Amino acid sequence: MSRILCTGIATLDIINQVDHYPAEDEELRALAQAVRRGGNAANTACVLGQFGHQVDLLTTLGDDSAGETIRQDLQAHGVATERIVTLRAGRTPTSYITLNRANGSRTIVHYRDLPELQADDFPISDVARYDWFHFEGRNIDQMEIVLRRLNRQRIDQPVSVEIEKSRPGIERLYRYPDILLFSHAFAAEQGYTCADALFDALRQQGVSAILVCSWGEQGAFACDPRDQRHHSPAFVPAQVIDTLGAGDTFNAGLIQALLDGRPLEAALGAACELAGRKVGQSGFTNLL
Ligand code: ADP
Ligand code: FRU
Repeated sequence: MSRILCTGIATLDIINQVDHYPAEDEELRALAQAVRRGGNAANTACVLGQFGHQVDLLTTLGDDSAGETIRQDLQAHGVATERIVTLRAGRTPTSYITLNRANGSRTIVHYRDLPELQADDFPISDVARYDWFHFEGRNIDQMEIVLRRLNRQRIDQPVSVEIEKSRPGIERLYRYPDILLFSHAFAAEQGYTCADALFDALRQQGVSAILVCSWGEQGAFACDPRDQRHHSPAFVPAQVIDTLGAGDTFNAGLIQALLDGRPLEAALGAACELAGRKVGQSGFTNLL
C-alpha cells in the first residue's frame, strides 16, 4: 500500500446514453442517464483506491449539492477528501456527456466557473508522507510554482504529470516531473500523427522525463530515459461500452504497476489491460 496525492479536477458528470450520435438540432430520447463523479484526477484517484492505496485528492469544489455528491462518492471509493478546498465563489464543475452506445464514444461539453487551486493549497510541509505525486497538467502558473517547490522538497518520490489538453504555457511543466503522460488528443492537436514523432520532438527539446502516450484502440507507447521505445497493444473487450475516463484509468494502471516495481514495458501492458477492462464496462467500480 502506498500513499498517493492526486492533484487536479473533480467534476459532476451528467451522462446521457444514446443509440446514435445526434445531428445538430435533432431531438432524441436518452436510453439511460447517470449522474456521477468525474474529472481526470478524481477518476484516477478512485481507480488507485481500488488497488488498496491510500489516496488523497487535492482539488476545488463548490459549496453546493454537486460538491457534496462528489465528496461522498470519493469517500465511498476510499479516497480521502480532507485536502479538498471548498469555495463559495463559483459552482462545482459540471460536464455534459453524450455517450454513444453504438461505439462507446463520449462527447463532452464542460461548464466551469469555479476558481482552480492556488499553489499555497498544496500541502508542501507534508511532502514526506507521500510515496507518489500525480498531477493533471492545468492551471499552469500555479502548478509550476508547486512543481518547483516539490522538486526542492521531495526526497525521491516519483512525480507524474498528465498532459491531456493544449493549454497556454503547458510545455513549461515538462522539465519538472519524472513521468509525462500524454493523451493522443494532445499529440494530434500539436500536429503529431504518432507517439514516436511526439517523443522525437520532446527529446530534441531536451525533455528527459519518461514519456508515455496512450493512443485509444492502438494501445499505448512509451520512451524511457535512454530513448528505448515500447508499445503495448490495446486489450479490446468483447464490446466497447464506455470510453469515458479510459485515459484516467490507464494513468492509474501505469502508476500502480510502476509502484509495484514493474519495468516500463510491463507497466504499459498492465495499464492497457486495465483500461481495456474499463472500456468494456460502464463507470469505474469493480475494475479489479
Ligand atoms: P483518453 O480517454 O484520454 O482519450 P485513450 O483513448 O488513449 O485516452 O485511452 C486510454 C487507453 O484506454 C488506451 O491506451 C487503451 O489501452 C484503452 N482504450 C481506449 N479505447 C479503447 C478501445 N476502444 N478498446 C480497447 N482499449 C481502449
Ligand atoms: C474523463 C473526464 C470526465 C470529465 C472530463 C473532465 O476523462 O475526467 O469524467 O467530465 O474528463 O475533463
